[in-house]
Amino acid sequence: MAILLPGGAGYIGSHTAVELLNKEKEIIIVDDFSNSKPEMIDKIKQITGKDFKFYEVNCLNKKELEKVFEENSIEAVINFAGFKAVGESVKEPLKYYNNNVSGAITLLQTMQKYGVKKFVFSSSATVYGTRQEVEYTEKMKRGETANPYGTTKSMIEKILEDLYFADNQWDIAILRYFNPVGAHESGLIGEEPQGIPNNLMPYIVRVANGTLKELSVFGNDYDTPDGTGVRDYIHVVDLAKGHVKALEKLEKEGTGIYTYNLGTGKGYSVLDMVKTFEKVTGQKVPYKIAPRRAGDLAIYYADPNKAKEELNWQTEKTLEDMCRDSWNYICK
Ligand code: UD1
Repeated sequence: MAILLPGGAGYIGSHTAVELLNKEKEIIIVDDFSNSKPEMIDKIKQITGKDFKFYEVNCLNKKELEKVFEENSIEAVINFAGFKAVGESVKEPLKYYNNNVSGAITLLQTMQKYGVKKFVFSSSATVYGTRQEVEYTEKMKRGETANPYGTTKSMIEKILEDLYFADNQWDIAILRYFNPVGAHESGLIGEEPQGIPNNLMPYIVRVANGTLKELSVFGNDYDTPDGTGVRDYIHVVDLAKGHVKALEKLEKEGTGIYTYNLGTGKGYSVLDMVKTFEKVTGQKVPYKIAPRRAGDLAIYYADPNKAKEELNWQTEKTLEDMCRDSWNYICK
């Protein structure tokens, strides 16, 4: 029985593929390379020394998706297939709702047709919305999302809850990622944003290697220890291992719908990131203080205890590891 990974050639999907293969799981990757490269498939094989099936399919293509289920014995699906650029989602909301929400629905309908009911979903801390609390726990309700990207995550969570309510044979894990950074220690797979990156770490590494001139620090007048924004950065390999643990829970226990924060529980500021990166890599990261970015919150991080208690999962990598591995990837 195989685990199907739609979007498995992407940043988080490829790292999860490696961790699943390391655990001797059989996987099948489905990807349309809309935000990833075909080389990723070979690199996953190179890192693990293991082989797996791959299909170039878009999750909106019901016919092609059905063929994948027809030809294979699939036990569970971990869905990574989604667009994730916040700014682009504001400019092209229909593209995001269609790809992320309709894509998820098509996938779930196909699973239903073939009687596959174990589903792990890549959600985001963004579903907590704009709120006062700084430490997010799963007990909090979803909040008002700040952009269409965030709304797609929130909508899919709601769809999954309704689906489980209608048929409690579904077995679902919703994983709310905080800020994934870093790369596999081999330097073979990592984050590959298209164009100029929006997120902090991909920007820092491109300033350090001279591709970009300087970092703009968006605001230094927040109510945080050094005035810059504080986030919960999580190493992508720790995050990937969280998926393996979530899958194990679905395999072991009776059916249910479970939601987990995947974060470290620690907050670091933009300047903490810059200083740690400089210390670990020996590279300078020139920066200037710029105005606040619209939609940014001052500070938030995860309460990671539920995942620790119920999944027996916690992060192992440090901020130094995250900086070193991000740099190692860009250098390779
Ligand atoms: C962003 C998204 C979030 C998404 C996440 C994925 C927004 C508002 N939120 O989170 O929905 O789930 O990415 O990883 O876009 N910063 C700078 N200079 C930069 C880039 C960032 O100072 O060039 C600061 C930001 O102001 C923030 C921190 O670095 O304080 C982290 O920013 P970023 O990496 O973009 O992540 P989030 O905004 O937390």
